[in-house]
Amino acid sequence: MKIFKSKQKLQKEILYEKNISFVPTMGSLHKGHEFLIKKSKKIGGKTLVTIFVNPKQFNKKSDYNNYPRNIKNDLILLKRLKVNFVYIPNKREIFSFKPNKSVFLDKVSKKLCGQFRKGHFEGVLDVVNRFLEILNPKRIYLGKKDFQQLYLIKKHIQKRKIKTKVIACKTIREINGVACSSRNKRLNKKQLRIASQVYKFLFKIKKKSKLNLNILKRKILRFGVNKIDYLEIYNVESFRKGLKLNTNTNIFVSYHLGKVRLIDNI
Ligand code: PAF
Repeated sequence: MKIFKSKQKLQKEILYEKNISFVPTMGSLHKGHEFLIKKSKKIGGKTLVTIFVNPKQFNKKSDYNNYPRNIKNDLILLKRLKVNFVYIPNKREIFSFKPNKSVFLDKVSKKLCGQFRKGHFEGVLDVVNRFLEILNPKRIYLGKKDFQQLYLIKKHIQKRKIKTKVIACKTIREINGVACSSRNKRLNKKQLRIASQVYKFLFKIKKKSKLNLNILKRKILRFGVNKIDYLEIYNVESFRKGLKLNTNTNIFVSYHLGKVRLIDNI
């Protein structure tokens, strides 16, 4: 496994690599990342993982500062998974150049998380656009847990005619049902139990045809959730809001446990 901090050295190394699978991360790696990496390893070619906590996608400085970081453990895991290249840039390396392609921000960015995290998706697309330009990967691996992010990156890639193929990967969950996320590391035992209750409740409710979202919200708050940002039904193809569940819809949720904000779609 080769580790790069310098863009120049990395680009020299991968100049003739035509089959790179790119797994972008903000570190503090978990089973979800592990799944993306394992999937990328299966397809052949070389796997390149980036670790960069992108300041532009945090709408609160405190959230950026408190984001879990654990480079030492991350590198142990990446080595075990036999990742070929790891790129750990600093802010200057990423933001000091003008990308050739501008960011395309689909209007879906205004919905759900876009309403509660101003500038978040602009920040995500900015950094992903830059990475795509630096690395020119054949494929990019993204998880469906961050469904809105996945949708917006896909739209940007389509619109800007970038050749990278988007590989959408299923959400990986802990045994208690909670979707794997670096933010889970900031939850205490009680909060983890509540997160598990929320998942199990929504999973059960999904089988019902009629839903009253306000009643559901009240029930979720009674589990001990501090605040719900949204609980909505969305069509996963068109990304339009729906009133009823069907095979093409998911329940999208974002809620707070203490200072931690979690998202999921079930
Ligand atoms: O999903 C994430 O971890 C981040 O949003 C990403 C895609 C690495 C961009 O910073």
